[in-house]
Amino acid sequence: MLRRHGVYMRREVVVLEDIVKIYRSGSVETPALRGISLKIYEGEFIAIMGPSGSGKTTLLNIMGLLDKPTSGRVYIDGIEVSKLNSGEIARIRNYKIGFVFQSFNLINRLTVLENIEIPLIPRGIPRPKRIQMATNALIRAAGDPSWLPKKPNQLSGGQQQRVAIARAIVGEPPILLADEPTGNLDMASSRIVVKTFQELNKTGSTIVVITHNPEVANCTEKIYVLRDGRLIGEVSPDPSKCILNM
Ligand SMILES: Nc1ncnc2c1ncn2[C@@H]1O[C@H](COP(=O)(O)OP(=O)(O)O)[C@@H](O)[C@H]1O
Ligand SMILES: [Mg+2]
Repeated sequence: MLRRHGVYMRREVVVLEDIVKIYRSGSVETPALRGISLKIYEGEFIAIMGPSGSGKTTLLNIMGLLDKPTSGRVYIDGIEVSKLNSGEIARIRNYKIGFVFQSFNLINRLTVLENIEIPLIPRGIPRPKRIQMATNALIRAAGDPSWLPKKPNQLSGGQQQRVAIARAIVGEPPILLADEPTGNLDMASSRIVVKTFQELNKTGSTIVVITHNPEVANCTEKIYVLRDGRLIGEVSPDPSKCILNM
């Protein structure tokens, strides 16, 4: 936290200013985001909800530097991303942002260990250190390092998602973005994923999770509602309706 003028100010880790995204294919234009402004502060745990097609994934991909807006500005830790070259953007993405997807996106021909190591390779970290970091990440995300030599398709969906979370956190990025991470999981596995996110948030991670599931959204601190490419409101979660409390 920054102390300024005698007030503790929370650091803005992600700032979006008037983000517009229009997908163009041939002569067809699909407006996906119609002017989104939003600030995410260090240590927040946020949910984004909204109907299918409302622009949630597009918004998260722009926040995570996987996609570029048609217009508007994205700041990560105060740096305006459009001013950076692709190498600098890749570096920020690698060091500052971890991603978790609904479909896990693990590589089945690699072992669990090799999957988790992936974000460390561009950093030039030597193999023994990578193995140690990957093991620690899997212990944090799953409590069980025995999966390391397995292939992802030998694991259940819930286990694969925990491997994907280990991959997302192995490089200790301050920001974790998750796109419907429990969308393919049963209740028990969803609980474990949410619990892991809460624990990561307690140790300082800033977390944004897209979800259709109110029982997941109600575990966060703030719910943004997206509709037809616009942020239409902010809802206070009801912790008694969090999946961990029912
Ligand atoms: N790559 C793409 N090309 C064209 N249109 C897209 C593309 N990705 C998403 N869209 C459209 O943009 C809108 C928002 O999509 P998306 O961000 O995936 O919404 P959500 O995640 O809320 O379901 C939808 O109308 C969708 O069809
Ligand atoms: Mg989506």
